[in-house]
Amino acid sequence: MADLAHIYDQMRASPMNDWVGGSDPEMVGDACISILTRLLPLGGHSRILDFGCGIGRGLVSLHKAGVHPQQLVGMDIMPPVIDFCEEHIVPQLPNTRFELLEGANDHYDRFIEQRQRKSSDVLTEEYRDNFTDAYAFSVFTHLNQADFQTMLHFVSSMLKPGGRFMFTCFELNEFSRHMVLAGQSIFPLDRDRMREAGDVFIAHPDDPLAFIAFDNSLIRKMVWQAGMAVTKVSYGCWMGGGVGDGLQDAIVCTKLPVLKAVEDVQMTPLVQREPEVSDSTASEQMVDIGSINGDGSDKPALQLKKLMQYWKKR
Ligand SMILES: C[S@@+](CC[C@H](N)C(=O)[O-])C[C@H]1O[C@@H](n2cnc3c(N)ncnc32)[C@H](O)[C@@H]1O
Repeated sequence: MADLAHIYDQMRASPMNDWVGGSDPEMVGDACISILTRLLPLGGHSRILDFGCGIGRGLVSLHKAGVHPQQLVGMDIMPPVIDFCEEHIVPQLPNTRFELLEGANDHYDRFIEQRQRKSSDVLTEEYRDNFTDAYAFSVFTHLNQADFQTMLHFVSSMLKPGGRFMFTCFELNEFSRHMVLAGQSIFPLDRDRMREAGDVFIAHPDDPLAFIAFDNSLIRKMVWQAGMAVTKVSYGCWMGGGVGDGLQDAIVCTKLPVLKAVEDVQMTPLVQREPEVSDSTASEQMVDIGSINGDGSDKPALQLKKLMQYWKKR
């Protein structure tokens, strides 16, 4: 049986725990996975990607929560975190592997040494249409707009059609924008530090990728351009005002499924509310519509509305 307590202890003892956000790794991992399992139906049939896995806090807590997927793959651009996962997690969690991905990030480059890494093209070939589900905690809160789009596209290419991707971010919408501009959000995405005509807010001008927020329409556009659509949103409490469950916003996207032939689509039958009248009575009433309208108008919508009012009154 996996000794998860030992893995968490190794995480606590590692300076890398601070690189990925700090706090107690077990508490953070468990909190993330409780959000994830509420939003995605994961189980033994799942093939799951943890994108930007860091030292594997999410993966280990997923296992702790009783989700034992068919396949679990962690990817990250920082060699030391992948080394950590290979040393401490792979021997303990079955069906789990890690991939070191080529890539740069102004906020994390100081931890990236020269090392052979796999390009996204190579990994796309290896995992094309493979994963049923993917998630990324606190990754898209550290990507510039170009990388945000590229990484959505990359993850989408590895999802099977109809597969789901949950990522966390800071979404600028009417409420969060109002709170940020009023200086009331509990995350410092300061009003003086906007970028890109107000579609992108950052917290630190000298480290823009420390925390970055994007407008909701921009996020939806980028998701769509990656071949997915936003299908669920769970807001975080970062915006203040007592809104949300987790810290960041959790966006669930679904990769567009393969479409069926129209005749194979199962439609739910509509509830039938036929008036209990004989055919002859109904046709007499249809004839009567002109008199209901009172103006002899034959506009169908108006006729239908009047007919319904007529029946309701009876
Ligand atoms: C705040 S940490 C979160 C780590 C992990 N998801 C967790 O919750 O413990 C952000 C992670 O994203 C990774 N990352 C940053 N840019 C990335 C990119 N372009 N592709 C993949 N991972 C990236 C970093 O290396 C880092 O491990």
